[in-house]
Amino acid sequence: MKLELLSLINCPECQNNLQNYKGEALRCGNCGYVVKVVDGIPLFTDVPSTIEPWQKVDRGSDLGTAWRRSNWKFLQNLVTDLPADAKILDVGAGHGDFADIFKGRNYYALDIVPYPEVDVVADLGKINPFKDNSFDMVVMMNVLEHVYESRELLNSIAKIVAPGGSIVIAVPFLLKVHQAPFDFSRFTPYFLEKMAAEAGLYVASLQGYFDTQYLLNESLGNVWQYSISSQPRNKQVTAKMLVYIIQKLINLLACVTQKGFIDEYKSQQNPAPVGYLVILRK
Ligand SMILES: C[S@@+](CC[C@H](N)C(=O)[O-])C[C@H]1O[C@@H](n2cnc3c(N)ncnc32)[C@H](O)[C@@H]1O
Ligand SMILES: [Zn+2]
Repeated sequence: MKLELLSLINCPECQNNLQNYKGEALRCGNCGYVVKVVDGIPLFTDVPSTIEPWQKVDRGSDLGTAWRRSNWKFLQNLVTDLPADAKILDVGAGHGDFADIFKGRNYYALDIVPYPEVDVVADLGKINPFKDNSFDMVVMMNVLEHVYESRELLNSIAKIVAPGGSIVIAVPFLLKVHQAPFDFSRFTPYFLEKMAAEAGLYVASLQGYFDTQYLLNESLGNVWQYSISSQPRNKQVTAKMLVYIIQKLINLLACVTQKGFIDEYKSQQNPAPVGYLVILRK
């Protein structure tokens, strides 16, 4: 277990210090609260029995979908400006796909599933072991849509971010259901703004990732995967030919239209981004 983590956490029951007990548990000297430590990971909450662990790993600036590549670019730009001693918490880090961006920094990965890449397991909306104002940046990449009580989670996070610190959010808008049945919402900018204000935060930046070609390709992929195989054989052949032609046309269209880009949501006429890239501040 990362020992520096101990200086950032408290007993969730009585807010006293937790002590390392033979590397197997953390114990509160005051109220006796015990946190199991398994494979070096303190488990503050149980893993929900219905969750389907996230298996996909797209680790790198040029890997994964256009949306994920836009996430990488957005995050990397922000991290360059962080002071060297900044403390960062990656909430819903999964397999740590973005961890390389934080190499050499005070970076901690949290999830509700004890993936090997994770430093601590906790559902912060339910139990919050971190001391107030502990982090300069909290990152939540593609997580909010998987959290049913998203407002409770954001309220907790608002407490553990230091004044002036930021909460960095990537959240899909036009993306298919994933990690089912653990996919609960798609957020509009108005919801994000309202939930931020309710948590005592303000929106420092609200950008979208706009990519019409990506959306067209996604739809076409869905046609290929879900709408063709149920058809009689002769229709399947025609459908596959049409998909092939449309694919070529989309690629042609991409040559004469703007490529995927990140821009302030408000300066865009287009209300249909692939997702939002948001910076909240305390
Ligand atoms: C789609 S994955 C994204 C993983 C990673 N952030 C990325 O973008 O590659 C969503 C992650 O959020 C985690 N998660 C879901 N609810 C959570 C919660 N309440 N607190 C922390 N993590 C949560 C899931 O276990 C999963 O690892
Ligand atoms: Zn205690």
